[in-house]
Amino acid sequence: MTGIYIHIPFCKKVCNYCDFHFSVSLKLKDKVMECIGKELVDRVDYLPSKTIETIYFGGGTPSILSIKKLSTILNLIYKHFIVSEHAEITLEANPDDITIEYLYDLKSIGINRLSIGIQSFNDDDLVWMNRRHTAAEAINSVKLSHEAGFENINIDLIYGLPNLTLERWKQNLETFISLQVPHLSAYHLSVEPKTVLGYYKRKGKLTEIDENDSLAHYGALLDVTKANGYKHYEISNFCTNENFSKHNTNYWKQGHYIGLGPSAHSYNGISRQWNTSVNSQYIKAIETNQSYFDIEQLTDDERFNDYILTHLRTSWGANFEEICMLFGDKYLTHFKQELKKYKDLPTINISNDYVSLTDKGMFVSDKIIEELFWV
Ligand SMILES: C[S@@+](CC[C@H](N)C(=O)[O-])C[C@H]1O[C@@H](n2cnc3c(N)ncnc32)[C@H](O)[C@@H]1O
Ligand code: SF4
Repeated sequence: MTGIYIHIPFCKKVCNYCDFHFSVSLKLKDKVMECIGKELVDRVDYLPSKTIETIYFGGGTPSILSIKKLSTILNLIYKHFIVSEHAEITLEANPDDITIEYLYDLKSIGINRLSIGIQSFNDDDLVWMNRRHTAAEAINSVKLSHEAGFENINIDLIYGLPNLTLERWKQNLETFISLQVPHLSAYHLSVEPKTVLGYYKRKGKLTEIDENDSLAHYGALLDVTKANGYKHYEISNFCTNENFSKHNTNYWKQGHYIGLGPSAHSYNGISRQWNTSVNSQYIKAIETNQSYFDIEQLTDDERFNDYILTHLRTSWGANFEEICMLFGDKYLTHFKQELKKYKDLPTINISNDYVSLTDKGMFVSDKIIEELFWV
């Protein structure tokens, strides 16, 4: 499968936890958008296939963009690629950007999936995170999306906040369930050094959640989603029926993708590359035909490690035959040898030559995956 990712590196406000690439000064917005268009045209031959199954506007805050700016990019994609009839076309949206008019316009230009960054349905949590919206706006944004006819909707929530009680987290989950949305991305808070929370932590003003509480949040997440028919198909992702995120699943299955815009990553099966995350550098380089990315050719070891890292995040898991076919016997033998350590532990499932993490394993996935790497 092949996808296109477009990174919109602008936000109206700094959320306390976020270390994605964005700028709250919007003065370079038009220039960046022009350059993304130019980058797209310059790189039409980057992907081995011209047929695109997924397009994803991520950020930053793509819903900061006017319909005109979004459709200019989409039209360029339609002009230079073959977009599959059933392509999934997602826009990440912040609740306070969502109006009924904007939603109808998004539909009319072909956006067919929304990923709404709600984070919490509780006003105290939202203030703590420095979000732009209230809980009422969050709920209303989902209702409006339904009203405009969007069925394929994801909601992002964050748990594991130091002051989030189990009861409040369960209420968040119940509100999510009541909104009848087919997809949930629920992320455990990660306190990153270059964020406001990272600063508070260094100053001793923030203590991270206790591991037992964090495990209890995770347990509630699994229980509530399971009881309501959601599949836990990736560490942080849950969906009903077949409503997987096609775009993200393509990353986890090591499909090809081109990433456009500052800080975007690309992978074409041979190499990985990533654009500069300085907006002004990106603009200057694109306008003067200079290089704006770093590139890395992948060794067999790195390709194998990438395979383990991405596949074990999902419920589909890794497969012995596929490993042998893609990387050869040497890597399969190593993998099987390392797996022996987990034989009697409740963290890994092995059945019919498929290896996947159990729910317990997913909670400590980073540690397990690292131990299975080729080093
Ligand atoms: C790149 S953000 C973009 C979403 C959109 N701009 C918004 O805020 O609504 C994607 C998601 O990552 C999650 N996220 C970002 N930083 C995080 C962190 N430090 N810990 C946990 N989740 C985080 C949030 O749930 C966020 O909605
Ligand atoms: S969470 Fe979203 S809105 Fe907040 S700073 Fe990060 S990208 Fe911007």
